[in-house]
Amino acid sequence: MKKIAFIGAGNMGGAVLRSALNVFPAEQFIVTVKTQTHADSLRAELGVEVSSSNLSAAERSEIIFLCVKPQYSEPVLAEIAPAFKEGDKTLVSIMAGKSTEWIACQLGLPEGSRRIVRTMPNLPALIGRGMTLIADGSDVPEKVTDILARCGAVEYIAESLFDIGGVVAGCTPAWTAMFAESLADAGVAAGLSRAVAVKLAASAIAGTAEMIASGVYSTGALKDAVCSPGGTTIRGVAELERGGFRAAAINAVLAAYDKHSSLRG
Ligand SMILES: NC(=O)c1ccc[n+]([C@@H]2O[C@H](COP(=O)([O-])OP(=O)(O)OC[C@H]3O[C@@H](n4cnc5c(N)ncnc54)[C@H](OP(=O)(O)O)[C@@H]3O)[C@@H](O)[C@H]2O)c1
Repeated sequence: MKKIAFIGAGNMGGAVLRSALNVFPAEQFIVTVKTQTHADSLRAELGVEVSSSNLSAAERSEIIFLCVKPQYSEPVLAEIAPAFKEGDKTLVSIMAGKSTEWIACQLGLPEGSRRIVRTMPNLPALIGRGMTLIADGSDVPEKVTDILARCGAVEYIAESLFDIGGVVAGCTPAWTAMFAESLADAGVAAGLSRAVAVKLAASAIAGTAEMIASGVYSTGALKDAVCSPGGTTIRGVAELERGGFRAAAINAVLAAYDKHSSLRG
């Protein structure tokens, strides 16, 4: 049986792998990680084969998800390059900043190869509510679209916009978690239990995100709909503006974009 390899299965690769296990049986997968303890726990928890050789995992697979950190990817790509010499294997990268052209070059594939699928998932993939970007221009095997669809929504965008798209989709879960934590902290300061405060903040964020995504309200109209004249919410809006909330959010995205661009290959 032609396998699906996961090279790296940490926070993000592990989330995509767990979604993939809802689509295909565990026997279909072969996984490699760096540490023995993680290898043992993946084997025990997920029932997948875990190999100690990236090359052998790539050789035995038709689809290879590359899920290591971008800064450690060069030796890994050199290791698996011989597996791409013949056949029609597809490499699916989830790495920030690394272009299809750079990856093709590391693998010894011709420029413009359509066998590299560049993607950018985000952490809510773990519960099937992720947002995965796919760069236009590759041949995406059906098995890959099936796996990514199980991670959540999928959006095809031009590779030239991948860095900024990846930052907005990929980093926002961390920033939203910080926002939720701040709201909950305030609730706790005013007497709510931590559990209730977190639940209220998370539900409000989730419901609001659904409304924005559904297009029922624009972001501005939604804010206005909650802000009654002379009311409580607009007082909070004034405090957020005083604290530089919007500027901080915009600057966070642009700082992350700068950092992302420095990883570019
Ligand atoms: N985290 C996110 O929200 C997010 C979002 C979008 C994209 N990404 C991208 O996803 C990739 C992984 O990020 P992450 O946050 O999941 O990192 P991570 O948690 O550090 O996971 C990295 C994985 O790579 C494994 N690994 C390291 N060296 C290896 C090698 N030589 N051979 C095989 N496996 C090796 C590690 O093994 P051990 O577990 O044994 O250490 C680990 O499982 C990055 O390229 C990142 O840009 C991340």
